[in-house]
Amino acid sequence: MKASEPTLDTGENWIRKDLLSIRELAPLEINTILDSAGAFKTVGARDIKKVPALRGKTLVNFFVEPSTRTRTSFELAAFRLSADVVNISASSSSLQKGESLKDTALNLEALHADIIVLRHSAAGASKFLAERLTASVINAGDGAHEHPTQALLDVFTIRERLGRIDGLKVAIVGDILFSRVARSNIWALKKLGANVFLVGPSTLVPRSFESMGVSVVRSLDEILEELDVINLLRIQHERQRKEYFPSLNEYVRFFGLTKERAQRLKPHCLIMHPGPINRGVEIDSDLADGPQSVILDQVANGLAVRMAVLYLCSTAARKQR
Ligand code: CP
Repeated sequence: MKASEPTLDTGENWIRKDLLSIRELAPLEINTILDSAGAFKTVGARDIKKVPALRGKTLVNFFVEPSTRTRTSFELAAFRLSADVVNISASSSSLQKGESLKDTALNLEALHADIIVLRHSAAGASKFLAERLTASVINAGDGAHEHPTQALLDVFTIRERLGRIDGLKVAIVGDILFSRVARSNIWALKKLGANVFLVGPSTLVPRSFESMGVSVVRSLDEILEELDVINLLRIQHERQRKEYFPSLNEYVRFFGLTKERAQRLKPHCLIMHPGPINRGVEIDSDLADGPQSVILDQVANGLAVRMAVLYLCSTAARKQR
């Protein structure tokens, strides 16, 4: 890279053209992304927030499910790396006319797409494409499977605020069963040495998650005082086919982060949420905007993390051609 760009020590630590899941990454690879993101974050503090790392490359943001944060930050990350960007949604693509995902992607590659960022309702959709394309494929969320860049920006934010991940006590609260954010976070936090607690009703947090090396807890009140981080998840009605708890009021009573509960958190405990937030359900509205909340830091850090991911995967793809 040129002198005007952040100093990156990619070495041999990153050789993947695709980012498909956190599960497949070694701790060294996760830390390589986090360190690179730290370098790219400095670009955002400059007057001219642009580096030429991906000049001449084309990124296609292919979002078959809705998104505000992920789609926008991948687009801004690509702009900051000087790539050309095309956005495609389900409603504006020929998927509507019955074209398969594979055919759509092959056509995008024929148009010289170098990187395809895919959000899709089917678990494994990004892996399916990565195995068939020479372009880099970045998973921007596949069904209830994984959302790797969300977990990376979450651990980046924790490390930035608390200085480490190893040994921290992190609770992930709520709809774990349907959450790709939870799965990616569990992998990332465990690989980096955190103690992870999953909190929620048995319908949304089955004990089978214990095989991932986490503790399943039924009562938020049991563990509040111990926590370094509390990450609250949205109830994902769009993936639920039946009622998993009696009412939202009942959910708030047992699992919502209310003002009363927040008073029992350690002063340094970070309040996190991947968004979009249901204010007054998983989190009290004032707490979401309060001093312990890092919700908007997560969003801001997503830009640097996605710049790092795009840069590393694109560099690896170039070496493989
Ligand atoms: N956290 C997250 O993935 O948000 P979006 O659905 O808005 O991208």
